[in-house]
Amino acid sequence: MFKFRFASVAIVLLLALTPLVYQSCTYDIPVPSYCFQEDVLPIFVSKCSQSGCHNAIDKEEDLDLTNYNGIMKGVKAGKPMSSECYTEINSGSMPPSNSVQLTQLEKSTIKAWIKAGAENTSNCNTCDSSFTYAARIQPLMDKWCVGCHSANYSGGQYDLSNYNGVVKAVTNARLLGSIKQQSGYSAMPQGTSPISDCDIIAVTKWINAGHPNN
Ligand code: HEC
Repeated sequence: MFKFRFASVAIVLLLALTPLVYQSCTYDIPVPSYCFQEDVLPIFVSKCSQSGCHNAIDKEEDLDLTNYNGIMKGVKAGKPMSSECYTEINSGSMPPSNSVQLTQLEKSTIKAWIKAGAENTSNCNTCDSSFTYAARIQPLMDKWCVGCHSANYSGGQYDLSNYNGVVKAVTNARLLGSIKQQSGYSAMPQGTSPISDCDIIAVTKWINAGHPNN
């Protein structure tokens, strides 16, 4: 009898507390939300769409990873572990070992975006109007450009993974025209839509300020 009563009190307590535990789990852990256009697309463009790889011309493995519809061919919304575009990266099979690899943050960004429904979102980040080299310009190059423009794989002879390389593109007067995708320049990032106006403005301001190493 005593045992029975103890058990029923325990069950009632458990049932009463369950929603609390559940709530604290769902509300306490912040789930980062990522924007397709600004956070996810640049990773695929820079790290997967080099010449000979997953772009509109070469379509390696029948995948063009330079736009949303192409990326979705390898994505099951809500299910990163059933999405080729994530599992290949997660297992280390892609990109090939001689290419610039994805950072841990880039891998987790893709996973979180797929898990949240893999939507084609854009303009969700507020414009960061700063334009210092270390905090704004190099991170922008790392995000959109270094997969093709590094020491090992310098597209167009420009290594954009460091200050001197970025300045070379500025002093040769090739950087702005290419990211503004003006005629007479090769449109950059290659094979996809331009970077945001906010990003172009930051690069323009930094160049006009004398491209300081700040
Ligand atoms: C998918 C690969 C790829 C990505 C991503 C990419 N580039 Fe390029 N880029 C190239 C290749 C290849 C060339 C050389 C061939 C050419 O000029 O078209 C080049 C050339 C350039 C040139 C010389 C263009 C000219 O007209 O003289 C500049 C400047 C440049 N890239 C800047 C950038 C910047 C800045 C980014 C990022 C915002 C970027 N690229 C992203 C592949 C890429």
